[in-house]
Amino acid sequence: MNKISKFIKAVQLIIQKPYLLNNVLKDEMVAKESFEKAYPNLSFRQIRLVDLMDSDEVKITPYAFLSGSSLATDFALLQLLCRKYDVKDYLEIGTWRGESAANVSSYVDRVTTFNLGDEQLLSLGLPKDYVASHRFFSKDKVNIQHVFGDSQSFDFETLHQTYDLIFIDGDHSTEAVRRDTTKLRSFLKNEKSIIVWHDAKVDTEYPRYEVLRGIYEGLPTEMHAKVYLVENSLCAVYLPFDVPSESIQINRLPRTSFELTLKKLPLTEK
Ligand SMILES: C[S@@+](CC[C@H](N)C(=O)[O-])C[C@H]1O[C@@H](n2cnc3c(N)ncnc32)[C@H](O)[C@@H]1O
Repeated sequence: MNKISKFIKAVQLIIQKPYLLNNVLKDEMVAKESFEKAYPNLSFRQIRLVDLMDSDEVKITPYAFLSGSSLATDFALLQLLCRKYDVKDYLEIGTWRGESAANVSSYVDRVTTFNLGDEQLLSLGLPKDYVASHRFFSKDKVNIQHVFGDSQSFDFETLHQTYDLIFIDGDHSTEAVRRDTTKLRSFLKNEKSIIVWHDAKVDTEYPRYEVLRGIYEGLPTEMHAKVYLVENSLCAVYLPFDVPSESIQINRLPRTSFELTLKKLPLTEK
């Protein structure tokens, strides 16, 4: 198909299905160009997951290996940050199966995990089975509190809590990430508190500009220098410490090799 035929076909499809316009507006190339215009002097820095590893092993459990699961290295990052920086109070936006909440629960005192309620998810037309999978791994853990609402409108003051680490993994549109970031940074416990964002990369190497735009817009400029992508993961982190960091390099040769051992767990084991 030549360019003109493609153009005509695309316009016909957009007229028939206007929601397809979102694919153009959310395209990563479009987001990248717009990000670079907004932040012409910004170059991403990354930290290395292996620099956080206090021993050679991190145990990732539970892990469902189902559609939409975070990477094992994302859960490793959360656990390692909780351990290294002595996180007592952890908040996350986006519970879903409760995998991230359950993965950190042994390393912190209290986990608060926040999600749209089941009724709200159903009223948005989401499939029943998807809704039923929420909280699967977190519901029986004693130190995990489930809170329900829309993070965009919920009044977090009502929880009377501040947090050592806040994991933002709800709605990943630029606007939602910006609003979650702006809103939740006032609930950081102190100047040593950390924010982690999920899906700040499209894969373990390439930045995801749609989310990164929301992160940088949601933080005051003085915090920007402490935002890092995390090697081998899909996360970005605001880490207010002096940590070794480097510029990102796509297609770098592997510098570390990991070993995964798969162990089948009965689901009654918590
Ligand atoms: C990617 S999943 C979270 C995965 C989880 N953190 C993990 O790694 O195991 C995102 C969740 O955020 C929820 N969500 C999306 N927008 C939200 C909002 N505005 N307020 C609260 N929850 C939201 C969705 O219902 C979904 O369950």
